[in-house]
Amino acid sequence: MEKVLTRNVGIEGSRTIEVYRKRGGYETLAKALKMDPDAIIEEVKASGLRGRGGAGFPAGVKWSFMPKEPTPERPNYLVCNADESEPGTFKDRVIIENDPHLLLEGCLCSAFAMRASRVFIYIRGEYTLGAKVLERAIGEAREAGFVGEDILGSGWSCDIVVHRGGGAYICGEETALMTSIEGKRGNPRLKPPFPAQFGVYGYPTTINNVETLSCVPFIIERGASWFASIGTDERNTGPKLYGVSGHVKNPGVFELPMGTELMEIIEEHAGGMLREGKALKAVIPGGSSTPVLRADECRGLRMDFDSVAKAGSMLGSAAIIVMDETTDMVAVMERIAHFYAHESCGQCTPCREGTGWIEKILRRIRRGEGTPEDLDVLDQVAANMQGITVCPLADAAAMPCRSFLEKFRDEFEHYVRHGRSPVAAG
Ligand SMILES: Cc1cc2nc3c(=O)[nH]c(=O)nc-3n(C[C@H](O)[C@H](O)[C@H](O)COP(=O)(O)O)c2cc1C
Repeated sequence: MEKVLTRNVGIEGSRTIEVYRKRGGYETLAKALKMDPDAIIEEVKASGLRGRGGAGFPAGVKWSFMPKEPTPERPNYLVCNADESEPGTFKDRVIIENDPHLLLEGCLCSAFAMRASRVFIYIRGEYTLGAKVLERAIGEAREAGFVGEDILGSGWSCDIVVHRGGGAYICGEETALMTSIEGKRGNPRLKPPFPAQFGVYGYPTTINNVETLSCVPFIIERGASWFASIGTDERNTGPKLYGVSGHVKNPGVFELPMGTELMEIIEEHAGGMLREGKALKAVIPGGSSTPVLRADECRGLRMDFDSVAKAGSMLGSAAIIVMDETTDMVAVMERIAHFYAHESCGQCTPCREGTGWIEKILRRIRRGEGTPEDLDVLDQVAANMQGITVCPLADAAAMPCRSFLEKFRDEFEHYVRHGRSPVAAG
């Protein structure tokens, strides 16, 4: 497949506006500004573009919830979610650091379609290079007349602001992110009201992921049918960035058609298993919050939203974590549990207490002090956290725990009986 999202990666000077424009950059913005904003929204709807941040909500449908006639007193806002905090995920960073103008053009085209007059790019605090690259690119774009007042003489004005995050996983959740932009502690809040009604500073807001927004210029340039022709079916379309880490020879981010088979990604693009002769044991397909898959569940699995859901997991952020047969699955789950216990904002009791209990029980099992009852208690604690909290962080902790227990129960039982892992490296 022709690369689009990563076409400028590796090109010398790809961060500069000169190189970006030489390669056709900002021509789509000029085209978009001559279009009817609603026609852009319809095009994005027809393309089948679904959010790349995790949930896979159709982007065009989300955009259509925004007010059509904002006023100076009640403007529309667009937020680009560049928090990229799900463990295993490093795909947005590739765009931000290598092709910042693609993201800016995507933000501008999308903001125009939604009649937004301001874009906030919320970037995780640890991405210091990314923040600098974006600031510089915004300066260049402003000087060239693509950002600011009366863009390209269209009468439409829009500013872009980079907001550096506070270094908390929870700030990637959209309502927490908006609260954080406002300068407050990034605690999530209940929906409704949805961001399109009550977002940043109470104004109508749409939040989209970096990769989602970076797809938009190509949809406008080449048309919805081009985008929809890539992928598994009409519900799973477009180019997709897959990040592969763990026990592979060639970890990295690969741009492939949506729905590329998982084993093709691992064996062909990521170079196959890291250590010769070591078999694949398990894969986390979409970042640490998504249920783990056994090796036998990976064969023939297409990496798209619906296929991964059918297999009992989630495409999530398409962060593929590969584990070979030497992996101590109890140790992996303990590490994941530590992350969620540390990152729970503490607002909701089931999440605050549940994530802590999951970590404590797993620690006990790993110390060789677990009891057979611990396994059922673990599952019950996790089950009692699901679907009842303000935001899905509790589910993000409970889902992997329950799937590890279900799929690798023999390893947990071995730990309880013998005080150690059954695998050689354990
Ligand atoms: C705990 C938590 C963390 C999240 N972190 C991120 C993140 O780092 N980046 C992201 O794009 N979406 C993240 N999301 C999803 C966002 O809430 C939101 O759905 C997404 O930004 C919408 O963009 P999209 O429709 O383009 O996918 C997170 C969700 C939760 C519950």
